[in-house]
Amino acid sequence: MIKRIVSIVLALLVATVALVAWLNLRGEDGLDSPSPAPTADTVARGAYLARAGNCMGCHTTQGGAEYAGGRGIDTPFGTVFAPNLTPDEATGLGRWTEPEFWRAMHNGRAKDGRLLYPAFPYTNFTQVSRADSAAIYAFLRSLPPVSQANRPHELRFPYDSQLSLAVWRALYFRPGSFEPDPRQAADWNRGAYLVRGLGHCSACHAERDALGGSVDELRLAGGLIPVQNWYAPGVGGGDPARFAALMKDGVSKHGSVMGPMAEVVYLSSSHLEGSDVQAMARYVASLEPAEPVKRKSKGIDASVLDLGQRIYDKHCADCHGAHGEGRDGIYPPLAGNPSVQLSAAQNTVQAILHGGFAPATPGNPRPAGMPPFTHALDEAEIAAVASFVRQAWGNSAPPVSALEVMRVR
Ligand code: HEC
Ligand code: HEC
Ligand code: HEC
Repeated sequence: MIKRIVSIVLALLVATVALVAWLNLRGEDGLDSPSPAPTADTVARGAYLARAGNCMGCHTTQGGAEYAGGRGIDTPFGTVFAPNLTPDEATGLGRWTEPEFWRAMHNGRAKDGRLLYPAFPYTNFTQVSRADSAAIYAFLRSLPPVSQANRPHELRFPYDSQLSLAVWRALYFRPGSFEPDPRQAADWNRGAYLVRGLGHCSACHAERDALGGSVDELRLAGGLIPVQNWYAPGVGGGDPARFAALMKDGVSKHGSVMGPMAEVVYLSSSHLEGSDVQAMARYVASLEPAEPVKRKSKGIDASVLDLGQRIYDKHCADCHGAHGEGRDGIYPPLAGNPSVQLSAAQNTVQAILHGGFAPATPGNPRPAGMPPFTHALDEAEIAAVASFVRQAWGNSAPPVSALEVMRVR
């Protein structure tokens, strides 16, 4: 009896997966219609929209030809390499039609119908309008063709199969379109369209589950970026003016953007019109605030804080000020700095380990830099100084352990 039930359940499961896979794998018609030549305006609009989607960020290697692909996106399942988007016939999008490009953006499928990995954020891009997709297509066709073959992905079994992608898509992906909210102002809706669609902010600012699907992605309640170990904080309930300054200039009165967000600002948001940046900032700040993550705040040894203070006075106070007040509007304050007081400590540890620059933007053309301390200080010392800056001068955030520093390093 039990055997029978098990085999019926198994048969049903196999049938469901097969159906879903068939729906995902079958081809479509009408993809080879040629499109009329675009106007210069359309190409310029496409260039702007490609900035908003930061296509270049993933589709360009360091020092490589723009949009020629080759950059690896590290995921917990392996590395996915972004392909060549230039109009080269043999290795790029040279033979792609506009409907095929739209199907990639909207349905996550390649020219030959292959299902694409969601490291390409089509779960967001599906909200992009047909007209905007066509403008991006026109812009990409205007680029100089670069002959550069695509690198095969390096994914572990079973994630390297079309069948597992078909199942993933059945669980996490529905092609969609952006529906404006008639109760909201036009700029809120413009912000929502850019944030949910091209901006793909939820790719980092929403938590992911074990299979890499975004959880509750409309809320942008904060998420740890796997492999890179940076924490993209929750943005709901924040200050829209501070957000707009961070997104446009890379700096605000209370600190600067760092790590993966510095790249987003450098390549994408700092190039957008002020009105679009403000619309995005206004929209994300209007989201429901994330509930503060409660971390058990273990007491910390006075001797550790003491060590932290001595390290701070010796290595950090010159720039960040004796009381964490910052200096000259160049070196960010650490006292009262929201990002230093995130419950998740990864970003503070990353800053101390690797240092860095805020992005150079028209509003902040010559950002000051911070040196890395990964060689000068050991894990216990970095934990001590990180704990100190999170608790000194009225700051209140849980301390950091040497083990946490080791994990980030
Ligand atoms: C976060 C990184 C990332 C961003 C941002 C990104 N892409 Fe991609 N894209 C990828 C990866 C990775 C793939 C490969 C997916 C695969 O092969 O399954 C890809 C695949 C594609 C493909 C399919 C090409 C082919 O040869 O099959 C197109 C078209 C594309 N991207 C266009 C864009 C456009 C347009 C933008 C900006 C609006 C963009 N991408 C932004 C990572 C990205
Ligand atoms: C590649 C990952 C990534 C993407 C995509 C991304 N962010 Fe971020 N973001 C981060 C990380 C990591 C931080 C924290 C580091 C920092 O404070 O600079 C951050 C910080 C921020 C902050 C500052 C939060 C604070 O309270 O200090 C804002 C605002 C923000 N992001 C908005 C956005 C918006 C809007 C988008 C979409 C247009 C976006 N981000 C896309 C990774 C990302
Ligand atoms: C030479 C000057 C300099 C020194 C020395 C220095 N910093 Fe920094 N620090 C900076 C600058 C500039 C930034 C902003 C960098 C950026 O935005 O990428 C920064 C950023 C930070 C941040 C992130 C702040 C934010 O808003 O997210 C932390 C945390 C930090 N520093 C802690 C330290 C600690 C701890 C030390 C000593 C071990 C130290 N710094 C030493 C210049 C310095």
